[in-house]
Amino acid sequence: MEKPRAVLFDAYGTLFDVYSVALAAEQLFPGHGQALAVLWRDKQIEYTRLVTTSNGGAHYQPFWQLTRAALIYAIKRLLPQAATQELDAQVERLMNQYRSLSAFPENREVLQKLKARDVGTGILSNGDPAMLQLAVKSAALEGLLDHVISVDGIRKYKTAPEAYALGEHATGLKARQILFVSCNAWDALAATWYGYQTLWVNRYQLPFEELGTQPSHVGTDLRDVLQYV
Ligand code: LAC
Repeated sequence: MEKPRAVLFDAYGTLFDVYSVALAAEQLFPGHGQALAVLWRDKQIEYTRLVTTSNGGAHYQPFWQLTRAALIYAIKRLLPQAATQELDAQVERLMNQYRSLSAFPENREVLQKLKARDVGTGILSNGDPAMLQLAVKSAALEGLLDHVISVDGIRKYKTAPEAYALGEHATGLKARQILFVSCNAWDALAATWYGYQTLWVNRYQLPFEELGTQPSHVGTDLRDVLQYV
């Protein structure tokens, strides 16, 4: 394997901690914060697949809208009695939290070291441009990312191959010259299938997908990126 000339990161779950919303969810719905955060995330990803694979993409909605729809679903499913007139206010409160998710603490240092080694850096995400820009800003990662790539321009979510191809177009490199980093096993798997070198950051000690392909590397936090560049 050649040394990667650029590193592309998934955003939600990888650079930004999607489960950090559990705390705000717990305040709103005591005893259900964690379950709500997990169902919200699962539903959000399910919706990306639904709109990408159905009807030639005719039902595409930007990630922000799918995220809101998934939250409404999760509240109605887990807390049907709470989903009353207050639903709008609850949704607003949690969506605000999603706007400025916590970043994992090691991110800045890793990106700074990649820059010092003259390795290209970027995000390749399902997030729409506005939400990515805000997340990058609130995590103070501006200036450390050469590319912030959103699938929104092609209206197809990962794991569509056209979505992964955006990383090659933006960097001018071949997938095999790029290390793609994700904490989401499904994302690391599909990026491997596409042809990227991949690092699956297994923060939560989960099993990898059981579909016969392994990522190029496995780590436990973002610092592991530095071993491969
Ligand atoms: C992303 C989501 C899928 O940022 O984590 O692409």
